[in-house]
Amino acid sequence: MRSEQAPVEDPIFENYVYPILETNCQSCHSKGGEAATTRFALTWDAKADRAMVVALVYPDYPDGSLLLQRATGNQHSGGSILAADSVEYLTIRNWIASLPSAR
Ligand code: HEC
Repeated sequence: MRSEQAPVEDPIFENYVYPILETNCQSCHSKGGEAATTRFALTWDAKADRAMVVALVYPDYPDGSLLLQRATGNQHSGGSILAADSVEYLTIRNWIASLPSAR
């Protein structure tokens, strides 16, 4: 089925989540950055990067997601970037919780 390859329409990710990642993470997590070779590397293209980000989150347990664990400083050489009570954290968390659990 061709629809499997159609880009996922996800305006919440594109308009709210991705800009937070660009602002707070891209300096290290993109080409040329110190975390460029990890599983989390941004390319300035929200549609292209969505699947990579989805692979780092657990919709059934959003706070346990690798993405949020690292963002709050758990085993992260990048340090604590987002506080767990910040608008940015909660925006990402709510997006994760809205995803289907079977991916
Ligand atoms: C100052 C640089 C820096 C910033 C800013 C930064 N990180 Fe990182 N991050 C790293 C480094 C270096 C690693 C690889 C070593 C490690 O895991 O600590 C890493 C690893 C990770 C990993 C694990 C990737 C893997 O392959 O296991 C995730 C997920 C992650 N960071 C998420 C984030 C998120 C989300 C943000 C923004 C909210 C962020 N990081 C901001 C430096 C940074």
